[in-house]
Amino acid sequence: MDNKFYITTPIYYPSGRFHIGTAYTTVLADSLKKYHVLKGEDSYMLTGVDEHGQKIEIKANELGKTPQEYVDEMAKIAKELWNKMNIKYDDFIRTTEERHEKIVQKIFDKFMEQGDIYKGEYEGLYCVPCETFFTESQLVDGKCPDCGREVAPMKEEAYFFNMKKYVDRLLKYYEEHPDFIKPDYRKNEMINNFIKPGLEDLCVTRTSFDWGIKVLKDPKHVMYVWVDALTNYITALGYMSENDTKFKKYWPADLQVVGKDIARFHLIYWPIFLMALDLPLPKTILVHNWITMKDGKMSKSKGNVIYPETLIERYGLDATRYFLLRQVPVSQDGIFSPEEFIERYNFDLCNDLSNLLNRTVSMVNKYFDGNVPSYVGTPNEVDKNLEEYSVEQIQKFEEKLNEYEIANSLQEIWSLISRTNKYIDETMPWALAKEENQDKLKSSMYHLIENLRKIAILIKPFMEDTSDNILRQIGIKDDELKQWKSIKDYTQLKNIKVIEKGEPIFMRLNVDEEVEYLKNAMKK
Ligand code: ME8
Ligand code: MG
Repeated sequence: MDNKFYITTPIYYPSGRFHIGTAYTTVLADSLKKYHVLKGEDSYMLTGVDEHGQKIEIKANELGKTPQEYVDEMAKIAKELWNKMNIKYDDFIRTTEERHEKIVQKIFDKFMEQGDIYKGEYEGLYCVPCETFFTESQLVDGKCPDCGREVAPMKEEAYFFNMKKYVDRLLKYYEEHPDFIKPDYRKNEMINNFIKPGLEDLCVTRTSFDWGIKVLKDPKHVMYVWVDALTNYITALGYMSENDTKFKKYWPADLQVVGKDIARFHLIYWPIFLMALDLPLPKTILVHNWITMKDGKMSKSKGNVIYPETLIERYGLDATRYFLLRQVPVSQDGIFSPEEFIERYNFDLCNDLSNLLNRTVSMVNKYFDGNVPSYVGTPNEVDKNLEEYSVEQIQKFEEKLNEYEIANSLQEIWSLISRTNKYIDETMPWALAKEENQDKLKSSMYHLIENLRKIAILIKPFMEDTSDNILRQIGIKDDELKQWKSIKDYTQLKNIKVIEKGEPIFMRLNVDEEVEYLKNAMKK
């Protein structure tokens, strides 16, 4: 089926409080899902939690809980956070669920039977928090390249997945499917850093801890991390189970969103697992960069951690979502700073968007008692220009979003907002109101309302409440007029009445006070 969109987030480790990075990945995926919903596609979003592994076992022990008790609580916390952030996922998978564990065991068996998995002995440098073995050459200053902590040598009986067998097929696949990896430069990174130096077989079991899915044919081994974690994207759809309707309908995924730290697992191991299962590969894997702080990575010891709840509670959900998506371009790291957060709030949301709405609603009230005039063509010289510009911006927005350049697509919307603000100065409605023939004034009001309607539709995937709020204030009730289908048309508004008194959606913040507030919050 072509008219479907299956999107996934990574499944998160519930090993501590969910931070803004986790929120970023999820908001990104949620926005893309909502965009496809807006376009009328059958869209399906999967998220979840990655509940096995030594880290979880250790954490639960510290808290005097069983691992299951601990992950039960954390799964609840994750769902509460997503609920708070208006994340409209369709399924939430937990890797301790039977629907997942049973199928992972079947998959593992199949790999063993096919000879893809063999028994060997692992010797390597292991990073406990990252649950990853590294080779000497992968270390950075002798430490874990992912988290910078100490690694320790380790040796144990283990099963391995024969990656080498699939390397040529993988490279050929990369070559023949230019859309498989976005942004493009990640492909060369994989080839140069991991494949060319010689791809090592992947260790897929452990014997030194219990909190994992047992290998049926050799139960002293538990699967460790990647076979268990990566297959969630298909077990959640019912792959290999009695009811695999969803799997048939939605697989292959259209988009899998992952952070740069787990790119390697998703761009190399995951496609190889799928090849071994003889399944089609996802259409696109989107690798996003990280939110960092001015002084580098967020860390509790530096006192520079910001949690999504802090921002949502003080500034609202939509401002938080807007900032994350606007500030962190997918292909580069983005910096969180209190100054920039407040600046974007004051400029983009308050000055540009909220003021456009307010000025427009108050003028329609002042000149036409709140009744939006019907379309009278383009009697102002700039009307036509505005129409053309708007249609062009919508097109640019779509192009950027189709490439998953979310920050840039938002920028295109904000260009349209600025242009529309400028249109007020160009048409000078206060002067037109003095003219005998009211057509120009009517047209000016019409175009402002119409552009606000377009803007509200454009921001809907990212900022749903704000979108609804704008549509309500400008009096758009007809559902047809809230749909993507209607966005490029310029003529169809009739019998629309704006609310009597505009309500500001974003109010100017005091910069010094708020920067101080955020700085304190980051130290906690
Ligand atoms: O890696 N900015 O889970 P996780 C942006 N369980 N994104 C960030 C970030 C930051 N500062 N910090 C983390 C796992 N992330 C595995 C995944 S999938 C089969 C298994 C992102 O909870 C990170 O890049 O450690 C990743 O995409 C996500 O948060 C979850 O990481
Ligand atoms: Mg991680």
